[in-house]
Amino acid sequence: MARRLLAAVAIVVVAAALACGAGAQLSAGFYSSSCPAVHSIVRQAMSQAVTNNTRSAAAVLRVFFHDCFVNGCDASLLLDDTPTTPGEKGAGPNAGGSTVGFDLIDTIKAQVEAACPATVSCADILALTARDGVNLVSLGGPSWAVPLGRRDATFPNSTGAATDLPGPDSDLAGLVAGFAAKGLSPRDLAALSGAHTVGMARCASFRTRVYCDDNVSPAFAAQQRQACPSADADDALAPLDSLTPDQFDNGYYRSLMAGAGLLHSDQELFSNGALDSLVRLYGTNADAFSSDFAASMVKLGNIGPLTGSAGETRRPNRSGQHCGVRPWADHSRHHPVTVRILAGKTSVPARRARQA
Ligand code: HEM
Repeated sequence: MARRLLAAVAIVVVAAALACGAGAQLSAGFYSSSCPAVHSIVRQAMSQAVTNNTRSAAAVLRVFFHDCFVNGCDASLLLDDTPTTPGEKGAGPNAGGSTVGFDLIDTIKAQVEAACPATVSCADILALTARDGVNLVSLGGPSWAVPLGRRDATFPNSTGAATDLPGPDSDLAGLVAGFAAKGLSPRDLAALSGAHTVGMARCASFRTRVYCDDNVSPAFAAQQRQACPSADADDALAPLDSLTPDQFDNGYYRSLMAGAGLLHSDQELFSNGALDSLVRLYGTNADAFSSDFAASMVKLGNIGPLTGSAGETRRPNRSGQHCGVRPWADHSRHHPVTVRILAGKTSVPARRARQA
């Protein structure tokens, strides 16, 4: 028992060190001499993207969360599959979802490369797009200074994507444990889940919730069943926050208080458990939600970044890919790992060895 407790404490300490220690090397002014334009380029591009499609903001926000939860915020999620190694995009909860976020990050990276070649990482562009998407006027969410200086992973971790990301059927204990493993508190869980104030979910993600849960509002369940039949139509969409789907506000928490959380995992935050009081606070005090959300986004962005000479700043390849390209799969770039592979050596790069 004591040994198990010690092991649990050790996991929390390591996770906290990952989240806080590494984050200390990041700074909001990281590109102030090397690429000051990155801030206006990203903001302008996000503004355009959200005008064309409001869901763009939700898409990049989710990509940021899913990237940070697997090996830290290192853009590993953006790496494409190669014929021999799967990436993270098709693994676990990433599979079958919208690809809007991936394409948008690639487009913005191309614009940043044109202004500042080989300077700004995909991981930092992702962190900036997530913030700008939330804050853009039409969505009306909070803003915060984004610590920068992350570098990009050279390998994905598809196994981690299948195991580390929470699913829509998770219960409260599982959600709290999953966040604790990344150095995030139950309060971070409650605040960050407010991201579901925007964006959509597929019928496959909420079918059991609206057909089987007993803590769902009957009127809400009946309404959702119209869009989501008991079989088929897995890809039919519904807004995660049906009260104010296009506003970055506290409507999500008010929905939970009315038994109208779309996902089972959403409603777990307000189900006579330890987080009920925070849901009530955020649902009745929009400022409390905004400031906690901003603080927790910084903590999320501080999870295990690569800094200094670790990783790389990803570059476009010959076929015009930007953040999706794997250096060792692109022989045009003479990356050391490519050279090792071409030379017939099988040594595993340090980053990969850590993941194994
Ligand atoms: C707490 C555990 C969480 C679970 C179980 C979860 C699960 C899900 C699921 C199942 C979907 C719908 C996917 C689909 O049906 O295609 C979704 C969408 C989304 N999630 Fe989460 N999520 C969680 C936390 C978060 C966090 C922390 C963030 C960001 C900080 C986030 C941002 C989003 C956004 C913005 C969408 C909508 C994406 C879009 O419309 O394209 N989620 N989430």
